[in-house]
Amino acid sequence: MSIRPILTFPNSLLRKRAKPVKKIDNEIMNLIRDMKETLTEASGIGLAANQVGVLKRVVVILNSPESEIVAYVNPEITHRKGKREVAEGCLSFPGYTGIVNRSISVSARYLDESGGKVKITADELLAQALEHEIDHLNGILFIDHLKVHEKLSMATPEYRPHTHDINVSVNVQGNKDEVEFNKKLYTSIGIDDLKLALDKAEILKDAEQIND
Ligand code: NI
Repeated sequence: MSIRPILTFPNSLLRKRAKPVKKIDNEIMNLIRDMKETLTEASGIGLAANQVGVLKRVVVILNSPESEIVAYVNPEITHRKGKREVAEGCLSFPGYTGIVNRSISVSARYLDESGGKVKITADELLAQALEHEIDHLNGILFIDHLKVHEKLSMATPEYRPHTHDINVSVNVQGNKDEVEFNKKLYTSIGIDDLKLALDKAEILKDAEQIND
């Protein structure tokens, strides 16, 4: 088992569509084991294979702190019900959160680690995680679902107010300069690229806009 580095936005693999797993062989089992270890190290809720640079349709999700991390192979959402707004983050955007639109409940089908076909209906955090992680496999990111403009706690003076094409907003919690990133998971280049990309895309809000 080993921890795999997590790719940060705007790495192009995060925008690629992952390919279906044909057979759950040793390579896939190793991938699943490593993804579980990586998710544990990151204290995250979910991780998709794209995020560790593998374009295979595999995700791992921790449904609750008491439960085991579950692997979902070739997962598909088969039904969505209702709409809600929820706070969300992503391990490929460490330090950032935003409010996204998600379904109230989802039905999904997938293969478990032994290749068994499973159907589930989920709500709450698991529904959100399934939508988020399956999106990753299709190259879709949580910033694509952001709706409400949230405030950013770290001011960037050169930043201009904007209307973004994906009507996006991201909230940084705490001062990013003070955040220590786990070096087993993130490269400093990745963290810098993320900040630059978010600045360039004008995804981040200026502190002056907080009270708008
Ligand atoms: Ni994510």
